[in-house]
Amino acid sequence: MAKTRSIKKIAVLTSGGDSPGMNAAIRAVTRKAIFNGLDMVGIQRGFQGLIEEDFVDFGARSVSDTIQRGGTILRTARSEEFRTEAGQKKAASICRKHGIDAVVVIGGDGSYRGALALSHEGIAVMGLPGTIDLDIASTEYTIGFDTAVNTALEAIDKIRDTSSSHERCSIVEVMGRNAGYIALWCGVASGAEDILLPEKYDHDEQEIINHIIESRKIGKTHHLIINAEGIGHSTSMARRIEAATGMETRATILGYMQRGGAPTCKDRYYASIMGAMAVDLLAQGKANRVIGYHHGEFTDFDVDEALAMEKQIPEYQYEIARALSI
Ligand code: F6P
Repeated sequence: MAKTRSIKKIAVLTSGGDSPGMNAAIRAVTRKAIFNGLDMVGIQRGFQGLIEEDFVDFGARSVSDTIQRGGTILRTARSEEFRTEAGQKKAASICRKHGIDAVVVIGGDGSYRGALALSHEGIAVMGLPGTIDLDIASTEYTIGFDTAVNTALEAIDKIRDTSSSHERCSIVEVMGRNAGYIALWCGVASGAEDILLPEKYDHDEQEIINHIIESRKIGKTHHLIINAEGIGHSTSMARRIEAATGMETRATILGYMQRGGAPTCKDRYYASIMGAMAVDLLAQGKANRVIGYHHGEFTDFDVDEALAMEKQIPEYQYEIARALSI
């Protein structure tokens, strides 16, 4: 585990897609740092803001009235410049210029890779898992997933009501470009007949069509399909399914509503604990770690170790989804 010099000033940034609970994490990092006697700075617009010195001095009051808000008060951006070695060196020299000893990066795997690059330039980093996608291998929990699935589920329940009244097939597209966790959880929790995950879908639409026909024979009057964004094409899929089955089929793409909104209690709580923990690890002289949640415990790993881990959709849970939809 990398050791670092003693920490006097910490910066925090959010990077990549925003997620509900990021503000709770920013607040926890800020308040715990100030509580521990450290200086705090907020970096706006992620790594791009770091390169552009888009900084705000943070006091305890800077994060008042934010724990319940969705989005990120620090805003977020993707930075092409930071992807280059020159950009990373510039970012590190800006940290040194401002006396920033450590940067807490809240985001997904891409943000962790950015944090790792910064650590190679001599700046201590800590990563907090912020993504609605739950697709970070080093943790069983990511900040924002709980809110996103509850937001999606509320919408799906409403679609299900009208789908049932009209005896229709409904395809609901949820977020997840590369990861099907939102689709899996929402599919199981909404009692969907079919769940299409980017990790598993073999594009055999005939199988879905056959499933609809069989389900109607055994008395099902409506059919709910949860489709992940990574598979997409929900509208054209609906047209083809309607033509093949004769069942009226509608597609709804939930989109960015899943990324916004007030975080759930779980997202606020976990984000708060993780944010505080990042500061305490830095205060203990640890660096270049990412915080996670594993087997009921908050954990931390070296960032490069975390990035080398792999995560797979749990096969058994996916099988259960199929069994429960008979
Ligand atoms: O990573 C979160 C996420 O919402 C994914 O589910 C989605 O594929 C992606 O972000 C969309 O990102 P963008 O903001 O670039 O459209």
